[in-house]
Amino acid sequence: WPRTSNRVGGSVTIGGADVRDLVREHGSPLYVVDEEDFRSRCRDYREAFAGGEVHYAGKAFLCREVARWIMQEGLGLDVCSAGELAVALSVGFPPERITLHGNNKSLAELEKAVETGVGHIVADSFEEIARLGFLADKHGRRPQVMIRVTVGVEAHTHEFIATAHDDQKFGFSLSSGAAAEAARRILALPQLELVGLHSHIGSQITDTAGFEVAARRLATLLVQIKEEHGVVLPELDLGGGYGIPYVEGDTALDVKEIADGLRGIVANVARSAGLPVPKLTVEPGRAIAGLAGVTLYEVGTIKDVEGLRTYVSIDGGMSDNIRTALYGAEYTARLASRESASGPMLSRLVGKHCESGDMVVRDLWLPQDLATGDLIAVAGTGAYCRSLANNYNYLPKPAVVAVKDGVSRVIVRRETEDDLLRGQL
Ligand code: LLP
Repeated sequence: WPRTSNRVGGSVTIGGADVRDLVREHGSPLYVVDEEDFRSRCRDYREAFAGGEVHYAGKAFLCREVARWIMQEGLGLDVCSAGELAVALSVGFPPERITLHGNNKSLAELEKAVETGVGHIVADSFEEIARLGFLADKHGRRPQVMIRVTVGVEAHTHEFIATAHDDQKFGFSLSSGAAAEAARRILALPQLELVGLHSHIGSQITDTAGFEVAARRLATLLVQIKEEHGVVLPELDLGGGYGIPYVEGDTALDVKEIADGLRGIVANVARSAGLPVPKLTVEPGRAIAGLAGVTLYEVGTIKDVEGLRTYVSIDGGMSDNIRTALYGAEYTARLASRESASGPMLSRLVGKHCESGDMVVRDLWLPQDLATGDLIAVAGTGAYCRSLANNYNYLPKPAVVAVKDGVSRVIVRRETEDDLLRGQL
């Protein structure tokens, strides 16, 4: 739950706003973002990684207002498409604080980045290095480039969100020598400035060992590049992936501990090779946005399947939160519009889409007197819910409201039927 969430007089408040008022004013389903929670996590990361940089990973959840918060809190931004870049630039986000990622950036995306002076472009393939060389010449610019290194770490998380084992699409493999070859090719192009190495091992990782192995391997490659080329790269970007607790019993990572650990490892490797300690950048997405967000739904039909469980249907589902269907994600949810003294019933919180995989919480306990019209709050939906939202079954995407000091305001408006029909012949 967000840091400012509370239960007052029977109903839940977020950022000082009562969930019943939020739904009355803005409708349901509703994504609610606790602005103070979001901003305070930005500050936690910035302080823990002081001396380095924190780039928020926009894929977790980005809109124009969030880009402003990130800018105001002094963070940089990680984007991986022209669309994400456009959101950032539209609010005047300084391009030099933006990093562009992607395993298949289009020529147009690369050109936009070179033209606008995006701070770092993370090269992900040999074709891309050649394209960057061409674009740098064309625009008379010298972009700062990093190499995405696949460090060979098997992250313990869902297969779809692990990214540093060898058999996947991202980056240059360390073990095959491709990463070292990428460094050779970039250094051979004087119109590109190689500034560092990047690694991202996966997402929702709660065991810090993987981050540490990645940091050590990346720092070691830095030393090898110095030995081979005499070039000291000034930066290491360790990516994101810091896991958050979704349900009781999940591990909560301590960002200070992580920062100290990673800094120590990198400093050791660098110093023992007689190199200056490189600047460290991290790219948390979920760890900043995840717990700041709550989704509110209204209960519709309630079906008791004799002897098994009660199916509680809500007015959204896999279109606003696909993570349960896609990754088997787990969430904490509760009756939010009132308190109940009645006993618990084993429930499944399901959506209104036309398939059985459409569920938001597979197993949860809800009070037996749950009724149509009650509001349910699902915690930890600030990351990868709105950003993965879709229009399956032509459901309009819910609004996003920011709450702070008891005041709510729409930061992304609810889609309408007109929005759904727009663009069709
Ligand atoms: N940096 C890079 C290069 C990334 O690819 C990602 C996430 C991040 C940073 C931020 O990772 P985070 O700190 O948020 O874990 N849709 C999935 C997550 C996909 C993450 C993709 N890359 C989910 O809902 O769990």
